[in-house]
Amino acid sequence: MQQKILIGLIVTLIIVVFIPTYWAMEPGRQEAARIRQQTEAVERGAKLYSSVCATCHGAQGEGIVGPALKGTQLDDDTLQKFIARGIPGTAMPAWGKEDGGPFHQQQIKDLATFIKNWDKVLSETPASLTSPQQTMPSTTETTATDGSKIFANRCSSCHGVNRQGTSGLAPALTPESLAALNDTTIKDTILNGRSGTAMPVFKGTLSPEEIDALLQFIKYTLP
Ligand code: HEC
Ligand code: HEC
Repeated sequence: MQQKILIGLIVTLIIVVFIPTYWAMEPGRQEAARIRQQTEAVERGAKLYSSVCATCHGAQGEGIVGPALKGTQLDDDTLQKFIARGIPGTAMPAWGKEDGGPFHQQQIKDLATFIKNWDKVLSETPASLTSPQQTMPSTTETTATDGSKIFANRCSSCHGVNRQGTSGLAPALTPESLAALNDTTIKDTILNGRSGTAMPVFKGTLSPEEIDALLQFIKYTLP
């Protein structure tokens, strides 16, 4: 008899306390899931941004060849449209698959989410965003591989991942294409850019060692 009362009590307790508590916590759980999803989207977007957008828009979104994106007033839809379709007649390429770019819809969304939430990710994942090279192990690597990494981070968005150039944007950078330029001219081009063209100034953002490594890579290493 005692046992039955006890079981009855426990069942009542479950019905009266736990089930409402569960319901009450459900919106909180959904909110937590939403925040987690957004954080993940922001992190994915940040990685894409630092690998392909930072060369033109700046590692901090401060703008270089392209305008500043941090703190943009553009709404989410407009951002996604610009990113997916590019801005014809300017250096801003189309990134959406439908327009011949490399990214599917979700990646375009991630990029827009990241740009709209810039400060959040900066405080959480500074290393992956601001200095992609430094996250790579560097002790055992040769100069050529360092050069290839700097190239991938800083040059490939214009000169192409395989250094074959991007038509209408930037020339190839291979031993063959650079045969007519001497080392000093190449280093000077990287340091000072080419005014009146999209080739940016890297003085101040690349060290002399990094520029030497880039020279070795683009002039003396076959793609
Ligand atoms: C080769 C250089 C280059 C690269 C790489 C590049 N952009 Fe751009 N972007 C530009 C230029 C130049 C403009 C300005 C075009 C104009 O004159 O309106 C621009 C404009 C934009 C705009 C519109 C900004 C505004 O306020 O009007 C957005 C958004 C944008 N870019 C996002 C991106 C994203 C995201 C990436 C990476 C996936 C990226 N861009 C990569 C050069 C680039
Ligand atoms: C925003 C686009 C952009 C980025 C990023 C960029 N370049 Fe360029 N680069 C150009 C353009 C455009 C030219 C052609 C300039 C001209 O018309 O003379 C050029 C030219 C050059 C040249 C001269 C090639 C020749 O045949 O005359 C060298 C060398 C070069 N870039 C190296 C680099 C290196 C190394 C990096 C990365 C550290 C880099 N560029 C990043 C756009 C870019």
